[in-house]
Amino acid sequence: MTIFSAGSPPSAALRAAVGEIDIYLFDQLLKGAFDSARSVLDAGCGSGRNLVPFLRGGYEVFGVDRDERAIARVRRMAAELAPALHADNFQVGEVDALPYGDERMDAVISSAVLHFASDEREFDAMLNEMWRVLRPGGLFFARLATSIGLESRLPSSSPGRYRLPDGSERFLMDEAGLLERTESLGATLAEPIKTTNVQNLRAMTTWCLRKRT
Ligand SMILES: C[S@@+](CC[C@H](N)C(=O)[O-])C[C@H]1O[C@@H](n2cnc3c(N)ncnc32)[C@H](O)[C@@H]1O
Repeated sequence: MTIFSAGSPPSAALRAAVGEIDIYLFDQLLKGAFDSARSVLDAGCGSGRNLVPFLRGGYEVFGVDRDERAIARVRRMAAELAPALHADNFQVGEVDALPYGDERMDAVISSAVLHFASDEREFDAMLNEMWRVLRPGGLFFARLATSIGLESRLPSSSPGRYRLPDGSERFLMDEAGLLERTESLGATLAEPIKTTNVQNLRAMTTWCLRKRT
């Protein structure tokens, strides 16, 4: 397959191939983290920007989001890119009550969702539910706002909801909390926790776990 060609800007070629995918998820794709997966759930998929390469790649793709209109858009996109998939693979629902059996998925994606938790209890309810549907050996990819690197700019460093310097309000987990959960889930870090600090306005962390077999 030729992605780049003379006369066509690389950005257009890449967008045609992978859509508007989160760059850190793209990084995991490039590193082969999803190579052995067949079934992929995007929990809190929104309009499905992260599903494009999986739909094009013939994966068994699932998406759940509480936003009905977003799911309608994902269904239209899936019908176009992967017509063999059933529309019911994309469902309106809550991340803390997923409509799948235990260990059903080879990979679960949580991109910009966990930081919408109202408190630590809801954060854990979502996390535990995504973990429940992941098979042993499976990959959990999460990208979430955290307090990592912003500690001195927040009133407290414990996990909770905070107003960020960029004006948004988010539930922020800290690094200790991510590591404790990595341990209590019986997970291994697929790679070190990585955080992008956006000029001290917000911090976005990539947390990538493998479920132990
Ligand atoms: C910022 S968007 C991210 C969408 C997508 N994951 C992406 O990266 O483009 C957050 C999405 O999470 C969904 N969401 C947040 N909390 C949820 C929950 N508890 N259950 C289901 N969907 C949720 C919202 O409806 C929204 O579509």
